[in-house]
Amino acid sequence: MNAFVLGATGYVGRAVVEQLAAAGDGVVAHVRPDSPRLQQWQERFEGFGATTDASPFDRDVLRDRFAALQIDAVFALLGTTRERGGDYMAVDYGLTRVALDAALEQERPPRFIYLSSLGAGSPGRGAYLEARTRFEADLLASGLNGVIARPSFITGPGRDQVRVGERIAGAVTDVGLAPLAWIGLGGRRDRLRSIDNQQLAAGLIAVARQPGDGVSIHYADTLRPKG
Ligand SMILES: NC(=O)c1ccc[n+]([C@@H]2O[C@H](COP(=O)([O-])OP(=O)(O)OC[C@H]3O[C@@H](n4cnc5c(N)ncnc54)[C@H](OP(=O)(O)O)[C@@H]3O)[C@@H](O)[C@H]2O)c1
Repeated sequence: MNAFVLGATGYVGRAVVEQLAAAGDGVVAHVRPDSPRLQQWQERFEGFGATTDASPFDRDVLRDRFAALQIDAVFALLGTTRERGGDYMAVDYGLTRVALDAALEQERPPRFIYLSSLGAGSPGRGAYLEARTRFEADLLASGLNGVIARPSFITGPGRDQVRVGERIAGAVTDVGLAPLAWIGLGGRRDRLRSIDNQQLAAGLIAVARQPGDGVSIHYADTLRPKG
């Protein structure tokens, strides 16, 4: 695989970069050009054996980068948060859409692996899910091959900021779901349970490697490594 990872500096993105590089895949870790930590990330990614790219979010620039790098898989893992005061439609939808447009212009379009969220795919559930639902619809209509991943909580060790609310919500959800297995609904529990970045990265990479036509939708149960 020759992968381009958007959102590489995030909790999930850095695990995807690390695991792809460790597996011997070509991996280009994208860092936003205005990142105050560009050099630190560059050093970290180079330590993994990946290269870093700080191209602006511009369709033509990314189109040319994907072509020059012969990218065959784009991992779109970026997103803002409420704490950052981010605009989900501008960032989560808008920047990912720029990458999709660049991918669509390739002679041999890459697979597009989109990290979405549980709850996306149906309208009317707030700005965050609205942006994700809109991008999912675009990807499904694009004709590209790819993956939509809809995990619930992504939580575990190794985050830059400890997101206490997220960890508590993840833990409460996991404990609350346990009885589902007692009544034969273990599959449903596994789909809704939280997942950490390393598990999710392994799952995203595994489904990215699966050949297939169109876009497949995955939840935590099919993304979490077995065993
Ligand atoms: N946390 C959860 O429980 C959960 C559940 C389901 C889905 N998701 C979604 O999964 C995705 C990845 O999660 P994560 O935990 O890895 O997120 P994260 O650690 O917050 O990382 C977010 C990534 O997006 C980039 N980003 C944020 N704002 C940006 C902007 N304005 N312009 C360019 N890049 C920007 C960040 O770059 P910088 O480092 O430069 O800021 C970083 O690379 C997110 O989109 C999130 O919404 C999260």
